[in-house]
Amino acid sequence: MADHIVFSADKVAVITGAAEGIGRACAARFASRGMHVLMADRRAEKLNEAAIEVRAAAASSAVRINTCVGDVSRLADVEALKALAYQEFGQVDVLMNNAGTSVPTSSWGELDNWRHLIDVNMWGILHGIQTFTQSMIDQGSPAIIVNTGSKQGITNPPGNPAYNASKAAVKAATESLQHDLRNTDNCQVNAHLLVPGYTYTGLTRQRVSEKPAGAWLPEQVTDYMIEHISRGSFYVICPDNEVTSEEDARRVLWGAGDIAHNRPPLSRWQGDYNAAFAQFKPTS
Ligand SMILES: NC(=O)c1ccc[n+]([C@@H]2O[C@H](COP(=O)([O-])OP(=O)(O)OC[C@H]3O[C@@H](n4cnc5c(N)ncnc54)[C@H](O)[C@@H]3O)[C@@H](O)[C@H]2O)c1
Repeated sequence: MADHIVFSADKVAVITGAAEGIGRACAARFASRGMHVLMADRRAEKLNEAAIEVRAAAASSAVRINTCVGDVSRLADVEALKALAYQEFGQVDVLMNNAGTSVPTSSWGELDNWRHLIDVNMWGILHGIQTFTQSMIDQGSPAIIVNTGSKQGITNPPGNPAYNASKAAVKAATESLQHDLRNTDNCQVNAHLLVPGYTYTGLTRQRVSEKPAGAWLPEQVTDYMIEHISRGSFYVICPDNEVTSEEDARRVLWGAGDIAHNRPPLSRWQGDYNAAFAQFKPTS
């Protein structure tokens, strides 16, 4: 199957969180396909380093790589990013609202960390949607908005409730966005939810010093995303070297079953339910 037209030479991608990890890997892949890329991040030095690497990966010297330093949790910064994108390129074919972060939280306490995670992970993505969508529709050509969620926003494991809540909001907002776009007349913009599995990036390097066997590289996420968006998938749920797509589906269905079967929330991690989950085989 041919790749989606938005991943072709001369198309324009805007990527937040592009200084490292998944955003940086996507920027390099896009440039290698001849796409122009506007890379945004809050860390200027790291962003410049990444842009040098992305320019080196570009298909030709005609590929333009621009950078924009800013914080996605600030609406004015995202508006400035959009202004730069249209000034430099006149169009945006791929918008990746990808910047994200993690700090420790617990259900009560760490209020500042809660605010920070909601500001960056949820508001950062909402700012991107609010700022870019209408202009992308007005272009009148195929375009996509890819928002980066997380399995933690779907299955809600114990450990970091604010991260989970921020990513659950991204899932809900992106699902609604896709519904609203497909019900808008003459709209050629689509939305996708990118859900990486365990991926070795700046975010996960905080916890381990070398790549764990179970983790994917960010380039694998990029290739999986291009393939599955090209196939028309809204939910791009990446496996990793430990968790298969079938196992992801089992976990999602068990989590939904907490509601349908009136079990306690997060039952997968609770006593007897834990054993029941081990035996659980979803019927297709
Ligand atoms: N790595 C994983 O295992 C994993 C799993 C699921 C989801 N994700 C999500 O993938 C996305 C990319 O993360 P990554 O794993 O590549 O991590 P990363 O830390 O390597 O990259 C994230 C980038 O976002 C930037 N950033 C953070 N806060 C920002 C802000 N307020 N404004 C602008 N830029 C900001 C960082 O500077 C960094 O360059 C995130 O949304 C993350 O939550 C990652």
